[in-house]
This record gives sequence, C-alpha cells and structure tokens, in this order.
Amino acid sequence: MSGGARKDWIVGPGRPLTGRLRVPGDKSVSHRAIMLASLAEGVSRIDGFLEGEDTRATAAVFQRLGVKIEAPSPQSRIVHGVGLHGLRASAEALDCGNAGTGMRLLAGVLAGQAFDSTLVGDASLSKRPMRRVIDPLSTMGAAIDSGDGGLPPLRIRGGRALRGIDYTLPVASAQVKSALLLAGLYAEGDTIVREPHPTRDYTERMLTAFGWPIEFEPGVARVRGGAGNAHALRATDVHVPADFSSAAFFLVAASVIPGSDLVLEAVGMNPRRTGLLEALRMMGADIEETNATKAGGEAVADLRVRAAPLRGIAVPEAIVPDMIDEFPALFVAAACAEGETRIAGAAELRVKESDRLAAMSAALRALGVRVDEVADGATIHGRGQGDAVPAFVVDPATPVVIDSLGDHRIAMASAIAGQRCSGSFAIGDIANVATSFPGFDDLARSAGFTLRDG
Ligand code: S3P
Repeated sequence: MSGGARKDWIVGPGRPLTGRLRVPGDKSVSHRAIMLASLAEGVSRIDGFLEGEDTRATAAVFQRLGVKIEAPSPQSRIVHGVGLHGLRASAEALDCGNAGTGMRLLAGVLAGQAFDSTLVGDASLSKRPMRRVIDPLSTMGAAIDSGDGGLPPLRIRGGRALRGIDYTLPVASAQVKSALLLAGLYAEGDTIVREPHPTRDYTERMLTAFGWPIEFEPGVARVRGGAGNAHALRATDVHVPADFSSAAFFLVAASVIPGSDLVLEAVGMNPRRTGLLEALRMMGADIEETNATKAGGEAVADLRVRAAPLRGIAVPEAIVPDMIDEFPALFVAAACAEGETRIAGAAELRVKESDRLAAMSAALRALGVRVDEVADGATIHGRGQGDAVPAFVVDPATPVVIDSLGDHRIAMASAIAGQRCSGSFAIGDIANVATSFPGFDDLARSAGFTLRDG
C-alpha cells in the first residue's frame, strides 16, 4: 500500500511447473462481501476472503466508518452489519490504497450517506480516472469534488437525496456499474445500468444473496431504490472462490514452460472472468477442467494445465472485458507463441494500475521481443522457437531491469517471462503484488519458479 518500501525480484530461468496449487480468494468478491455485509442488518461470515492489501484497505475503511469486523482466522471475517443507515462519519480521509475497485464502489456507497467523506489512494490510484463514476453519480444527485482532471482525492458530500437513473455505460466497467447500483440502494426509484458488453456481475448476484430486489441479465441490471427504508440488506454468509485472475499467471506459466503439468484447485469460473481460458485454448493451450461444482453460488473447477506449443491469434474483441485483468499474462503467452498475436479494443488497459499496454510492451522489448503498440492494443511478434531454446535472451554483460511501475500484474507477468529466459533479470518495484496475490513468490517457487528477492 501507500508508502511501502520498494522491493525487487530476480527471476529465471525456471523449471517445469508441477504439483497442485490453490491461489488466494477473489479480489472482486472480497471487496463486495465486506461492503454488503457492512451495510446489512445482522452478522455475516466471509470465508475464503482475500488477505490482500486492496481488500484489507476496504475492510479498514468500513471499520473507520464504525463497522465491527473480526478476523477469527486467516481468510475469514465476521462482519457486524450496521444497516444501510448505520455508518458513522470518519474524521479522517478514507484510504483505499491501490484499489480502484475500493474507491469507485465506495464512491457509490458514500454518495448516499448523511455525512461527508473523503476518499484517498496511493500514488497509482491517485492517477486513475474517477469522472466515470463522478458524472453518473452526480446525475443521481450526488455532490462529489475531485482533484484536477477528475482524479482522486474524492470529496463526497452527504445528506443529498439521490434519485435512480437509467444509464448506459460509455465503456464496459463493472466498477462503474457497481458504484451506480450501490448508490441506487439509497435512491428514490429504480436505477438501471446498461453495458456495451456484459461485465462481471458479482454485485448483482451478491445483492440478490443479501435479499435486495434486483433484476439482471448479461448487459443490464435494474436495482430497486431503497429511499425511505423501502428495502434492507439481510446478513448472509459469503464463500469467496479462488481468484481466476491469480490462477491466470499459472495457466500461462505452465502453458509456456516446457514439461509443466500443474493443477490449480477450485478456481472461480464465472464466465465474465474466464476470457483468458478461451484465448489460451485458441492459441493451442492444453487446459482441462475437472471437479466442476458450485461454491457459494459461483461455478468453480480444478484446472489441469500442461505445457503445449502456442500459436498467435487475433484476440476476439468480444472477449476483451472477460479477460480485462489478464492481458499482462497474455502478452507473455503471445511472446512465447509462434506467429503474431493481435490485441485491439483494449484501450481500458491504459488506465489500470499502470498503462498496461505500454508497460508490457516495454517489458517484452527489454527481453528482445518485437511489439508494435497502438492506441487500443498491440501486436506481439511471438518468438516460438520451440522447447529446446529459451524464448527470451538476455546478455549477462548487460543487466536487464524490468520496471513493474508498481503494478502487481506487470510484476507477476514479467516473472513468468523470466522462467523462459536464457539468464536472470530483475523486476523492479514489486511490493504491490501483495495488493492482489500475497504469497505469490512462495507459491510460484513451490511450483518450480526461479524467483528471489533482489
Ligand atoms: C473490477 C472490475 C474491472 C477490473 C478490476 C476489478 C471489479 O475494472 O479490471 O480489477 O471488481 O469490479 P473496470 O470496471 O475498471 O473494468
């Protein structure tokens, strides 16, 4: 989180990945579970909670707002909900750390409160666009001031009467959709959100689980307004599945590291999250789903992945939102593949924790890969030399340092590339891996990664 000491890794070359791994809980589900449980009436238990810095920051914000949250064991939380109108003002600014999800969803919740609040974040979050939530929330009647250019901090005035709107999102964003649906809990009349392409629907599903009247189908959600205590959230238990986006790094790593045969256990398989699986299979990846079941209303499955020769593809634009967090890992798969991989319709990657199109293009170029970057995507010219030779070559006389730009996913994707490299290189500024995937380094080493602190 903000102000942490800078840390680096030295990576590669690695061994085949083998064994069985379980990655930590889903970030999106963990954020939402804390929020809805806090606003519910009664006590909710959350299992499988992601002990990451992003989700802990969200829990700390609700504690500052007067919610009692206990952690009886790692990955579990007991949340003593205060009801929709039970939050108390915080005298201090509320720190969302690195989390765009935290800040944007909280903007929706706080717009409906009787008191004023200020949301702040770390250096990366302070550069991320907030107009996408400020504008529609203002149309609902919220009063939100931001820094210059619509950047954080957000100062949210309380005591405003919100009214439901019928809003079509200009870009596919589950965060914006969710901010509006959460503000809708405090609004007079229904709030309808329409999306240009369906995005993850955890807010909608979880509102249903907490007993709130909401109708949704892919691409549109309609939540009933809760002004005048028309409805309440009722406490319920939440089971958080393992995060597909964390599993994604191992899906790619085991696909590109020759001889790998790895099982990822009980991975969340919400169809709005698994676009990478489709892309990797189009590229020729060997990934088998077993033990498919449901846990806490979400599809989960074990994924067995074996190394396979990959070929380049044109990533279908229709699946971009379903794999929006997986492009750093896909860049590495593409670089190891035979032929070109073309990404288009992915301009949103420029406003994530870093500009991920620029960051991954720079990372791969530092390893000798040709990447042509365009405004909304990139073409990666895969090296595809086969198993016998490294995919990436570094000159031991000229040390390579890839700057992760403080972006957790750039750091983890670059660590995969290291496993297919002729020698080792450094990855700078990796501390934020703890925002989404605490313990990635130990888990990766246990599977066969060569990775140490630099
Ligand atoms: C998220 C939505 C996505 C995703 C982020 C988590 C969520 O962001 O990139 O990691 O939990 O709603 P956008 O809504 O900005 O696409």
